[in-house]
Amino acid sequence: MFADDAPAKDIKTPRINSEIWHNGQFIKWDDARVHVMSHVLHYGSSVFEGIRCYNTKRGPAIFRLREHMRRLMNSAKIYRMDHEFTLDQLCNAAVGLVGRGGLEQCYLRPIIFRSLDEAHPAFGVNPFPNPLVCYIGAWDWGKYLGDEAIEKGVDVCVSSWNRLSPNSMPAMAKSGANYMNSQLIKMEAIKNGYSEGIALDDRGFVSEGSGENIFLVHEGRVITPPLSSSILPGITRDSVIQICRELDIPVAETGLQRAALYVADELFFTGTAAEVTPIRSVDKIKIGEGTRGEITARIQKAYFEITKGERPAPVESWLTYVNETKVSVPPSNGHHGDSAFAPTTNATEAKINESFLTVGTE
Ligand SMILES: Cc1ncc(COP(=O)(O)O)c(C=O)c1O
Repeated sequence: MFADDAPAKDIKTPRINSEIWHNGQFIKWDDARVHVMSHVLHYGSSVFEGIRCYNTKRGPAIFRLREHMRRLMNSAKIYRMDHEFTLDQLCNAAVGLVGRGGLEQCYLRPIIFRSLDEAHPAFGVNPFPNPLVCYIGAWDWGKYLGDEAIEKGVDVCVSSWNRLSPNSMPAMAKSGANYMNSQLIKMEAIKNGYSEGIALDDRGFVSEGSGENIFLVHEGRVITPPLSSSILPGITRDSVIQICRELDIPVAETGLQRAALYVADELFFTGTAAEVTPIRSVDKIKIGEGTRGEITARIQKAYFEITKGERPAPVESWLTYVNETKVSVPPSNGHHGDSAFAPTTNATEAKINESFLTVGTE
């Protein structure tokens, strides 16, 4: 049954950026606090992103920054969070944070959430009276599923928990509340001795891992579940689809039965944190040769070369080189009225990205 000695921690956080970006200014890590009665703590009202910044020969480079910030704005729009930040301001803030922090590589965590107006406190479910705040933190994060996993692959299970159903909690929004579902999937997997769990959607089709999209390789074709399988529209997933096209590997979005996982030639996860991680077994059934497959290795190699700036991205540049990107940086803890980081009075410029509307073919 459940092992009591299952690891409580699956990550290491060796180095943390000493500053946090908050609503237009840089504040000290220790000053980034919220009130315990904030709406977000009680009702899960946050949307966030996870972005990697890679160490390249040209200094730190943020991977697909605009796409991540656009998804953040889309997530906020879905939850009627009418904040005043623009895409450019959020991108500039991320570049400024990395530039000031001195970490040559890191993981960036922008978050927008509903906090507490202490002068006019509101405690109900109705989120509208609660002010919106935005923070961006950063830390150096190693391989999410372990260093060995990238080469040898991970052992995973199919979760007894289903992924969210589209008309209860939209999986296409990266909201904090969705990660209660992810935590159920992850905890069950860890307690049973697996690295990760794969959730099925509410119809029983393969959806995704607790924090990764999934790909299957069958007879030379690469297949991934469509957005209609309640997945997060992963930016790594999109990168891998584009890499497959460039490598002339046929790729399709198709609904997958659970059993298709067991008979796949190769399986792998994709995600900002997990990058491209092979899966070597599912429910103790060996996948292919039980190690990283040939097509997975080709895709992984291309992905790592692109993120290190050693290979051009398939379409346009996917890297924002921090040391080569000019942004005006406000003084620490200073006023931000005129700065490029200040919120503007423009309404949010988020538009639902067309690819977010695609449900894919099944
Ligand atoms: C539930 C879930 N699915 C998929 C992904 C992969 O998305 P991305 O490649 O944009 O990081 C993530 C990670 O953010 C996730 O949490």
